[in-house]
Amino acid sequence: MNGQKTWGGRFSGQTDDRVERFTESISFDRRLYREDVLASQAHARMLGEVGLLGAHEVEQLVAALAAIAGEIERDEFAFSVKLEDIHTHIERALIERLGDVGRKLHTGRSRNDQVVTDVKLWVRGAIDQLDVLLKDLQAALVTAAERDRDLVLPGYTHLQRAQPVLATHYFLAYAEKYQRDRERLADCRKRVNVLPLGAAALAGTSLPIDRDSVARQLGFDTVARNSLDVSSDRDFLLEFVFDLSLIALHLSGWAEEWVLWATTEFNFLELPDAFCTGSSIMPHKKNPDVLELIRGKAARVVGDLQQLLVLVRGLPLAYNRDLQEDKVALFDAHDTVAASLELAAALVRETRFRHDDIAARLEDGYLDATTLMEYCVAQGVPLRAAHEAVGRLVRLCEEKRCRLAQLPAEVFDGIRPGLAPGVYNILGVANALKAFRSYGSTAPAEVEKQLRWWKEQLSFGPAVINGR
Ligand code: ARG
Repeated sequence: MNGQKTWGGRFSGQTDDRVERFTESISFDRRLYREDVLASQAHARMLGEVGLLGAHEVEQLVAALAAIAGEIERDEFAFSVKLEDIHTHIERALIERLGDVGRKLHTGRSRNDQVVTDVKLWVRGAIDQLDVLLKDLQAALVTAAERDRDLVLPGYTHLQRAQPVLATHYFLAYAEKYQRDRERLADCRKRVNVLPLGAAALAGTSLPIDRDSVARQLGFDTVARNSLDVSSDRDFLLEFVFDLSLIALHLSGWAEEWVLWATTEFNFLELPDAFCTGSSIMPHKKNPDVLELIRGKAARVVGDLQQLLVLVRGLPLAYNRDLQEDKVALFDAHDTVAASLELAAALVRETRFRHDDIAARLEDGYLDATTLMEYCVAQGVPLRAAHEAVGRLVRLCEEKRCRLAQLPAEVFDGIRPGLAPGVYNILGVANALKAFRSYGSTAPAEVEKQLRWWKEQLSFGPAVINGR
């Protein structure tokens, strides 16, 4: 007999052990137990409201569900692959406690709408926690932006020295990326927060359920309109894992940058000992393993997204068992990103820039060349001519092994007579930096404004109005 199974009636033979092991999801969906209990309590209350359960039955179910959640929490609950998934485990435990009252809970619902409801509740909670983690990382970045406001960094394109940027500007660039990540998650949350429960198996139910009541109890904004869509809809999950992938990619680019910056070749960063490891054979080594793994683990998250995209490919309406696999990718992507975010924030807080080493080589690489070209343009030289002329001067500097600011006045007057005296006020990195003025640029005044905006945004107390 298949007595333990919720669907035993239709079957006369036992399920093959290998099938039980192959089809189980309890090994990974047990972490949905809290959501499953909450959704079932709301469902039970609703069944009471519409008269499908008596008031005492509702009370018994709600209390027993809470007790089961407590047992799972305290690790006192026995799980078995025979009971397949978390939904069946909890229902079986209810029946063991309450007999026929337990047998009534599944009225007007199916595991198909139940599982999406649980997953949506879980994702909603995860989005809210990720927002806290992202905000904390932003806070770490803004704190570093404020701490290093006197530091000028070489800015790179193609990993070649390009133009100077304030370290504050640099840190805030990442704050922007994580802001978009937060916005994306908030947008995804709107589609997560639509109640699936009540779609039942696929077509709804002939019983007089009240889906609005369940939505209200569980804090869903609305109720899914089409029951047939509900159990096949994993759009929200794909979106969520895409959003996680983008966070992982943002983290991985930053991690790569800092791995490079921590090399002897760059020597920009002093990484904290607590976030590095040594070598078993080379005594001098201090390896940036955490950064490398933040970079490396991004591959897993993108792999999880890929898995989900391929999983839903070609699935007909409505529920198909393939969908059970969604949670494996979901949990892995989430856990990886949450852990990476936490470590990234700690690294941003603990790492220090080597101001002196950076300053010692800041005049290398012609970071002021573009400002010189723009100065020529402002003096009436056509842009292409100025570009050409400054390019030639850089070549001259390469030959003479000197900086632009060390060239004699006549070479500048050669571009346009009268150019020379003013040129020395914009050459050199410090001068070049001060010359910036456009909105959103690395101009010190612009960056100050942005820093103030970010501090307000993350409510670090009242914004500082007059400088420091
Ligand atoms: N464990 C299943 C899942 O995760 C729950 C839904 C099962 N539904 C079914 N008709 N077998 O998707």
